[in-house]
Amino acid sequence: MFKRISALVLAGLTALSVASCGGGDGTTSAGTGGGGDDTITMGFAQVGAESGWRTANTKSVQESAKSAGITLKFSDAQQKQENQIKAIRSYIQQKVDVIAFSPVVESGWDPVLNEAKNAKIPVILTDRAVDSKDTSLYKTFLGSDFVEEGKKAGQWLVEQYKDSQDTVNIVELQGTTGSAPANDRKAGFQEVIGADPKFKIIASQTGDFTRAKGKEVMEAFLKSNPDIDVLYAHNDDMGLGAIEAIEGAGKVPGKDIKIITVDAVKDGMQALADGKINFIVECSPLLGPQLMDLAKKVVKGEQVPARVVTEETTFTQEQAKQVLSSRQY
Ligand code: AHR
Repeated sequence: MFKRISALVLAGLTALSVASCGGGDGTTSAGTGGGGDDTITMGFAQVGAESGWRTANTKSVQESAKSAGITLKFSDAQQKQENQIKAIRSYIQQKVDVIAFSPVVESGWDPVLNEAKNAKIPVILTDRAVDSKDTSLYKTFLGSDFVEEGKKAGQWLVEQYKDSQDTVNIVELQGTTGSAPANDRKAGFQEVIGADPKFKIIASQTGDFTRAKGKEVMEAFLKSNPDIDVLYAHNDDMGLGAIEAIEGAGKVPGKDIKIITVDAVKDGMQALADGKINFIVECSPLLGPQLMDLAKKVVKGEQVPARVVTEETTFTQEQAKQVLSSRQY
């Protein structure tokens, strides 16, 4: 450990008090068994387990910490900002060497990030950004360019309807309200389709990135809008829930209603290969290895880039058929 033995004792007490409060941040610890003087301890405050993407991301972080010899303290915030803040405060009290987290929403982080800064614990943002003006509150932000993802979704749609003059009625299933991927995927998509007035978003609502909510909201969309041409879902899981709703309404997903989603997790890619989804914009959850490299550097006080953007692609139905069997998540 980078910190003194007394910190370990405090860590134990704090962990116990967090658990006994039933605060909901659910911090758990997974050691590497090393425990030598130079072992790094990372506190990781995860968003939750809302989607296939998130499950793959958690696995990537946990496995990469193990391979990198980093002791990981992990918490699942169940999509609640207050749980993430509690977990971060607990990591500060435990004097971990580095804190990494994927902020459930963009705003409201300055107080707790200032607490980490005052405690001289470096913070890494992973997957999602914060809207804080003070960029000294974190060392780097590793993750996708969500605006670009939204643009890719829009570009595919524009290309599909380039020879048609008819109105295209679009419904949108947004991610978690206030989250960076929901805000940015909406903005990127809107920027591209907004150039042609034939594209109309006739309904747009959050499905909270979950399959159940995606289904529920799509059922409501179908009841109040008889002429839906396209569904744009901010992730695969909501799209998969919506497919159930579309089939339940006697329509054919991928044909009667074209579907664009984001992520490219296995279930989404299967639906794409089966013709139920038309296009997927990839968002890679495999951030663990880069996160551990960055963590080692910031703990040593080395300079790291302020922004590390994940490389991603897109998939058509034909491409999905080709890569499905080798998909890692
Ligand atoms: O922040 C990444 C997004 O969060 C993924 O696209 C979505 O599936 C997840 O819940």
